Amino acid sequence: MIEVYHVSKQYLNNINVVNDVTFTVEKNQIYGLLGPNGAGKTTLMQMIATLLKPTSGTIMVCGMNTMDQAREIHRHIGFLTSEVRLDPYSTPNKLFDFFGKLYGLSSAKIRDKKAESFERFGIGPFTDKKIVELSTGMKQKISIAISLIHDPPVVIFDEPTNGLDILTAYQVTEYLRELGRSGHAVLLSTHIFSVAESLCDKMAVIIDGRIVAEGDIPEINAQAGAKSFEKSFLNLYKTHHKE
Ligand SMILES: Nc1ncnc2c1ncn2[C@@H]1O[C@H](COP(=O)(O)OP(=O)(O)OP(=O)(O)O)[C@@H](O)[C@H]1O
Ligand SMILES: [Mg+2]
Repeated sequence: MIEVYHVSKQYLNNINVVNDVTFTVEKNQIYGLLGPNGAGKTTLMQMIATLLKPTSGTIMVCGMNTMDQAREIHRHIGFLTSEVRLDPYSTPNKLFDFFGKLYGLSSAKIRDKKAESFERFGIGPFTDKKIVELSTGMKQKISIAISLIHDPPVVIFDEPTNGLDILTAYQVTEYLRELGRSGHAVLLSTHIFSVAESLCDKMAVIIDGRIVAEGDIPEINAQAGAKSFEKSFLNLYKTHHKE
């Protein structure tokens, strides 16, 4: 459902921050992008979500090209990024209504989605509180619920558990696991090994904009010549990172 072919991205300085990246994410698959700070994960995800244009290469989402079907693609993806900020003076209740209407959902559908997500993420007691008064974890859970309000088949989450405590991170990873089992294609980025290891069916290790290893954990360990995933990552980093 996500197809990325030979995609590169340069910002103004002629450096490929994403460099000839090719991979696909299938239905019922959770695919992880694992890479250090500055590896190009967010840039890559923003291109898949049609918010940035690749310098070269092709990206297809649900069979549609990101270069000419951006509007339609938006209906098919749920995108979560740390750059998205909720209006601090709005409330969860109002934000749900706003985004629900933006996606053209009926009032009944918005009401059902609200009830379902508020229940799942324990948002209920905070429904009418201002965003500015909520904790990081609660804001993150609201962002996640809103990003999926239109039931998209493709889920793209950039560092979904960043800044969350263990319990909240667990709720989020369990939710992603469920999405991965129920017909969705899930792409997530992380630099937390345990998240990658426990959640992802397949992973790409990205160093300096390039995929340097791809597969499940045993496959990546074999490619990196190491016994643990952490050691594999360090080996790959030493081999591929250019100063
Ligand atoms: N708008 C921009 N203009 C110029 N360079 C940028 C821009 N956005 C990102 N970069 C550079 O592109 C590279 C990749 O950044 P990106 O944010 O995609 O990495 P990342 O893997 O998401 O990192 P992190 O783990 O820190 O979130 C970095 O070197 C960054 O400085
Ligand atoms: Mg990033």
